Amino acid sequence: MPVITNIQDLKRIYERRVPRMFFDYAESGSWTEQTFRENTSDFEKIRLRQRVAVDMSGRTTSGKMIGEDVAMPVALAPVGLTGMQHADGEIKAAKAAEDFGVPFTLSTMSINSIEDVAEATTKPFWFQLYTMNDEDYVRRLIQRAKDAKCSALVITLDLQILGQRHKDLKNGLSAPPKLTPKTIANLMTKWAWGIEMLGAKRREFGNIVGHVEGISDASSLGAWTSEQFDLSLDWGKIAKLKEMWGGKVILKGILDAEDAKMAVKVGADAIVVSNHGGRQLDGALSSIRMLPQIMDAVGGEVEVILDSGIRSGQDVLKSLALGASGTMIGRAFVYGLGAMGQKGVTTALEVIHKELDTTMALCGERKVSDLGRHNLLIPQNFEGEWQD
Ligand SMILES: Cc1cc2nc3c(=O)[nH]c(=O)nc-3n(C[C@H](O)[C@H](O)[C@H](O)COP(=O)(O)O)c2cc1C
Repeated sequence: MPVITNIQDLKRIYERRVPRMFFDYAESGSWTEQTFRENTSDFEKIRLRQRVAVDMSGRTTSGKMIGEDVAMPVALAPVGLTGMQHADGEIKAAKAAEDFGVPFTLSTMSINSIEDVAEATTKPFWFQLYTMNDEDYVRRLIQRAKDAKCSALVITLDLQILGQRHKDLKNGLSAPPKLTPKTIANLMTKWAWGIEMLGAKRREFGNIVGHVEGISDASSLGAWTSEQFDLSLDWGKIAKLKEMWGGKVILKGILDAEDAKMAVKVGADAIVVSNHGGRQLDGALSSIRMLPQIMDAVGGEVEVILDSGIRSGQDVLKSLALGASGTMIGRAFVYGLGAMGQKGVTTALEVIHKELDTTMALCGERKVSDLGRHNLLIPQNFEGEWQD
């Protein structure tokens, strides 16, 4: 087994192990992928202030996210088709998160169902909701998440329609993969993945197949979104969903200060500043670049979580120092899962934890809650000067 010291190591193994269709699905942004690229390159522009002769003993990365104790403020983001990256992927990622002490978020578009994950874990997880046209189905889905004792509903707002990702269309992305000459040729080189997948609990969208009617192709993410997702979702509907849920609500996909204010108005417990990992509106600015103005608008009124582009503990530290109280990782844990299953997710979390802890110490801090702008060197004009 190679020695794994960073997230990129996991990504290299992941790329070798998992069918191209699913690697491409994760490793894509929409259209030109400008936002996808800048999500990571903008983190690199922020530099860190080294401080010395500060007692580093007794450091801790622990904190709270929506009132829940966390070993570090890094939740696993909702990722559709996780169970295609590795057999029983959602179950494995949820278990790794539980053992590590960080929240796991189950996507509506998961392979393992809400019930599968609840059965395999002991602590509550978060459930991410995509709203669909079939209101009755949404009501039942929310009830299923309540029955599973999920501790938060994460409502994703930036995907009522799908941003075009060229590779998914060219690859004919589906779960399970359709057997064309191209996919068969690729699958033959991924035998370890295939053997494990034969024993998987599920190979279809576990939360929806058998629960929703009237889809032309039940295996296609594109068909689900274009035929079922609710185009009419607005703030009024969000308020109703919040009421229906009755527990903690996290609104995900906020990238604008005005929307952040609206989220506060409808009573969100937390927002996720996110551009969906660069997979939706290509051309939008990176999350880290938008964070300062969102903090200025709503900081102190709502808990702010950031995702999109985090590939290291240093990126986590930069997000926290700019004001977020928590973060989410998508691809960083998917690389680990695809590479080595549950152990790979644990490794990804360990890598990020070590980077966060060491960087915190070298910045002269002992607690994540003490991080602030004083730890950063932010380029002039980082947020950009744009015409009114
Ligand atoms: C392969 C993949 C699938 C995703 N599926 C979902 C989803 O089903 N629901 C959702 O709210 N976000 C989804 N996202 C977005 C993530 O929750 C998160 O916002 C994003 O991955 C953060 O960027 P990062 O991958 O750079 O960490 C997905 C992201 C990826 C990479």
